[in-house]
Amino acid sequence: MARDIQQVGVVGLGTMGAGIVEVFARSGLSVVAVEKDDEAVARGRGHLEGSTGRAVARGKITEADQQQLLDRVHFGTDVGALAEVDLVVEAVPEHLDLKRAIFGELDKVCKPETILASNTSSLSITEIAVATGRPGKVVGMHFFNPAPVMKLVEVIRSVVTEQDVVDDVEALVQKLGKVDVTVGDRAGFIANALLFGYLNHAVSLYESNYASREDIDAAMKLGCGLPMGPLALLDLIGLDTAYEILDTMYAQSRDRLHAPRPVFKQMITAGLLGRKSGKGFYTYDAAGSPAVV
Ligand code: 3HC
Repeated sequence: MARDIQQVGVVGLGTMGAGIVEVFARSGLSVVAVEKDDEAVARGRGHLEGSTGRAVARGKITEADQQQLLDRVHFGTDVGALAEVDLVVEAVPEHLDLKRAIFGELDKVCKPETILASNTSSLSITEIAVATGRPGKVVGMHFFNPAPVMKLVEVIRSVVTEQDVVDDVEALVQKLGKVDVTVGDRAGFIANALLFGYLNHAVSLYESNYASREDIDAAMKLGCGLPMGPLALLDLIGLDTAYEILDTMYAQSRDRLHAPRPVFKQMITAGLLGRKSGKGFYTYDAAGSPAVV
């Protein structure tokens, strides 16, 4: 019988984790949101308040709706608070050892039937799954940035993921008002496998001074009808995240298309991470909108 998923957990409240919390809370689910320390919890809470506050300002929801949504989310630093949830989504940085350690902990505290999902962009679900005593209940649930807006969720099944787990996660994605595509466990899944070669190539055009950042972005936005150009999109994704995704895909495929361009490392070292640090290929104001060009 299908699980009745009412209470969920999210571990990691960065850009993606906080966005995923918002998606769940908007759908009426009760959410336990966990981060490693109080500062990170405050950042995650601030992200949720900011995003729902903008929805109020745009007249999309009322202040009462916002309050009800915020009341459905319980923030904290204790993984033990996830003991009763029906499904957990992990959204911590893309480091396999960190994710495996967290899944080991989740396996200990969560009910045996709880589904453990990772929002990994490119790491192996199988390698994460075998860090638990319930690999059949481990699955990928890959959201796109910004999570409250983008309609797609990739559902990743490993060779041992149980079919009822895949069915229940697909049903949950639909309940969230999103569209699921289901895919096997290969770096980049569908969307990132196709997207990141293009983004990397755009960086190589920029790096070689072949064209300006504005012209590269204008070409793809206005010439190809994309919602944003590749360099603006990299700023949205975060250069550190993009680097890790490319690096993982390159390690698996050895396809030079995915060998991260050198400028990624230079910009990351200089703290130019994109919107989240206020500067990447472009400069942003405190609200994350393009500011000085
Ligand atoms: N959080 C919540 N809502 C947001 C948001 C955010 N960060 N950014 C924008 N929105 C909402 C706005 O509130 C607005 O909502 P409304 O229609 O209900 O009023 C709506 O999105 C449109 O926003 P704007 O009018 O401000 O701006 P745009 O129309 O230019 O849309 C965009 C902004 C949705 C970001 C659009 O430019 C876009 O779709 N860009 C491409 C994003 C993309 O490709 N994402 C995938 C990246 S790859 C990835 O995530 C994979 C991972 O593994 C790295």
